Amino acid sequence: MSTIPYNKKNVIVLPQTNQLRGLYSIIRDQSTKRGDFVFYSDRIIRLLVEEGLNQLPVEETTIKCYGDHEYQGAKFLGKICGVSIVRAGESMEQGLRDCCRSVRIGKILIQRDEETAMPKLYYEKLPEDISERYVFLLDPMLATGGSAMMAVEVLLSRGVRMDRILFLNILAAPEGIEAFHASYPDVKIITGGVDEKLDENKYIVPGLGDFGDRYYCV
Ligand code: URA
Repeated sequence: MSTIPYNKKNVIVLPQTNQLRGLYSIIRDQSTKRGDFVFYSDRIIRLLVEEGLNQLPVEETTIKCYGDHEYQGAKFLGKICGVSIVRAGESMEQGLRDCCRSVRIGKILIQRDEETAMPKLYYEKLPEDISERYVFLLDPMLATGGSAMMAVEVLLSRGVRMDRILFLNILAAPEGIEAFHASYPDVKIITGGVDEKLDENKYIVPGLGDFGDRYYCV
């Protein structure tokens, strides 16, 4: 199967160019070694960050070029920060840093509670002025959406505006998009691809396996 087209406000799927399909073909391949998995995932992450930056508002500005010629340009409005959902989301931090020098990055740790099987917040460390920022929420796999939704709750409780959250992920399942979007319709989901479904273990199908294990361990 190929990526499912998604026509929903605030759900942005990267254009499925041959280049992007080539990158996904490498990271989805179960025989791809860790070095290549990291390298090609990083390239996709970079594209997601660039698309996130495309979504930010700008104001018109006139630049004086050499020879006093004028250029009608654009200037970014507002401050941004990143928030990664530990551990897999940390893989996306460098891609954000590569595009935004000295960007502040917070972290949220959410894990499954063994007793209730529900996501539980274990740790948060966020920039103190986060309510004034656009937030790039980083988590590579949008499966059920449980962790991401809890992370958004943390951000909202810290005063971040819903329409200033951009949730970047490499791969999404329709179930996760639907659940997330129903609760947070003003958050922009920026994804590299939408797969068919979740399996009985809540893994994305066809997917790419366990992203964190493949990026950090295997
Ligand atoms: N997390 C992963 O790493 N992979 C999936 O398919 C789903 C969640």
